[in-house]
Amino acid sequence: MPTNDTILVTGGAGFIGSNFVLTWLRAIGSPVINLDALSYAGNPANLSSLDNDARYLFVRGDICDAELVGSLLREHKPRAIVHFAAESHVDRSISSPEAFIRTNVQGTFVLLEQAKMYWSKLDEAGRSAFRFLHVSTDEVYGSLGPDDPAFSETTAYAPNSPYAASKAASDHLARAYHHTFGLPVLTTNCSNNYGPFQFPEKLIPLMILNALEGKPLPVYGDGKNVRDWLFVEDHCSAIRTVLGNGRVGHTYNIGGNSERANLDVVTTICDLVDEMRPAAPGAPPRRKLITFVEDRPGHDRRYAIDASKLSRELGWRPAEVFESGLQKTVRWYLENPAWIESVRTGAYREWIRQNYSERVEL
Ligand code: NAD
Ligand code: TYD
Repeated sequence: MPTNDTILVTGGAGFIGSNFVLTWLRAIGSPVINLDALSYAGNPANLSSLDNDARYLFVRGDICDAELVGSLLREHKPRAIVHFAAESHVDRSISSPEAFIRTNVQGTFVLLEQAKMYWSKLDEAGRSAFRFLHVSTDEVYGSLGPDDPAFSETTAYAPNSPYAASKAASDHLARAYHHTFGLPVLTTNCSNNYGPFQFPEKLIPLMILNALEGKPLPVYGDGKNVRDWLFVEDHCSAIRTVLGNGRVGHTYNIGGNSERANLDVVTTICDLVDEMRPAAPGAPPRRKLITFVEDRPGHDRRYAIDASKLSRELGWRPAEVFESGLQKTVRWYLENPAWIESVRTGAYREWIRQNYSERVEL
């Protein structure tokens, strides 16, 4: 059975997945099938600009549904699977871990198993061209001390949250399907992303919206936890690069060399919002809204990514620095109030109440 140019994306209605689909169609242009269950984090409106685009097909469905995954593969004969679908928020994995095991572990297993069956029946050219790209996170490596070297592809796994543990398990499954069955797997481990379409439960969009609305800005603990930030379109370009030229069976770390303490991220957002949407006369600057609240249990202190393998082997570089990417992001949230309203459903408001109302102020 031959393949064609189509790729199957999972979780393409989420934050990174929708940016990936949009940039893929601009940069590469071959057809995309998007399999997404539309959990609270999935929003088909992110891709409404593709409504009349014949290259794009949306399928609402669960990656745990083996029959559905198998039939999509047999029907559309994609040359690659790019697997984003996941439960992705650490705080939710602390309050309700079960969904993380189901989607991130069981769901990845179902995809790998169906991919293996499909791939093994391809003709020789199809088998050697096929790729399964598993999208993962730097959180599988655990937490760094202030002077530790950044995570490399050989850093030992030490996941600390249920989210990180479920992603680590899925990475191990992806690795095993390559090692045992020869499935052409690629794995990417990326640092924290930010940019358009990010669901406002994560740090950067939550702080932009609260700052705009004059609400408290809840910084966990002392605000000195460090994350290594990457603009989402740079993550997408890195995935395209690895998919195109990555060595089968290899892992590539992706990051933008932009380590920032959370408090610095939040104050930068405050200043950008003050500049782009000045507060009402007499209202205090947004920095005054910063409130230190009870820490996240098990909160990893520092993440940092060494992406030198990806730049050395495949020539990838990010296009944005943190300041330019953050400016674009704040502008996007200012210009898209209808999107913001559409995602702030009753379930979202309930999550915000649950996560923040019982956190004591420090
Ligand atoms: P997200 O939560 O915004 O989106 C996840 C998407 O997966 C949603 O559209 C959701 O509907 C879909 N989904 C969830 N369960 C599903 C299921 N059972 N079947 C089918 N679809 C399902 O997540 P994101 O931030 O876009 O992250 C995408 C991927 O990138 C994840 O695998 C995540 O671990 C990884 N990642 C994220 C970051 C980050 O900073 N956000 C960094 C590195 C890696
Ligand atoms: P988050 O966006 O949830 O990503 P992750 O936990 O995957 O790194 O959080 C980024 C950092 O911001 C993390 O150190 C936790 C912190 N944080 C806050 O201080 N306040 C908040 O309200 C949130 C959501 C996160």
